[in-house]
Amino acid sequence: MQPTEELKHEHRVIERMLGVVSKACDRLEEGKEVDPALFVGAADFFKNFADKCHHSKEEKLLFARLQERGMSGEAGPIAVMLHEHEDGRAHVRKIAELSEKKLTGKAKDELIEHARGYVDLLSQHIQKEDNILYPMGDQILTEQDQEELEKGFEDVEEKIMGPGVHEKYHKMIEKWESRYG
Ligand SMILES: [Fe+2]
Ligand SMILES: [Fe+2]
Repeated sequence: MQPTEELKHEHRVIERMLGVVSKACDRLEEGKEVDPALFVGAADFFKNFADKCHHSKEEKLLFARLQERGMSGEAGPIAVMLHEHEDGRAHVRKIAELSEKKLTGKAKDELIEHARGYVDLLSQHIQKEDNILYPMGDQILTEQDQEELEKGFEDVEEKIMGPGVHEKYHKMIEKWESRYG
């Protein structure tokens, strides 16, 4: 699969989790119960799937190769994307921390704030990558670049993610979607 196509598929999975988190925030705001395991699982998914797997493929491989092909890493789309990845990490750290607390009062408000902040940030981030950065990238990457990136992505799957991890997260998303979707 073309590397940017693979990343777009991962975006669709991330968007499903963002949708679940957004619904969970609605429920909390309406004063309804949400299983605390949802936010614990969401933080784990955002750390491992969205950041460790997906953002590794982008930062260490795709963006790095685009910079070798002349795109700036200091200004323009790559710089913006890197900055947004950092902002996202800060939200996820807070979501992970707050998800361990009892979801009432200040902890609940702060959790909603960071969860909503992350959903907004990442939704827009994904749009920019799908519609601007990836098409620009595919224009300047050579055939060989594409093949090497594809291999590099396979390495990330084998060495960083490991077998069965995608399936585990898909199952988790399906479970929350069926409960709160
Ligand atoms: Fe990204
Ligand atoms: Fe992405």
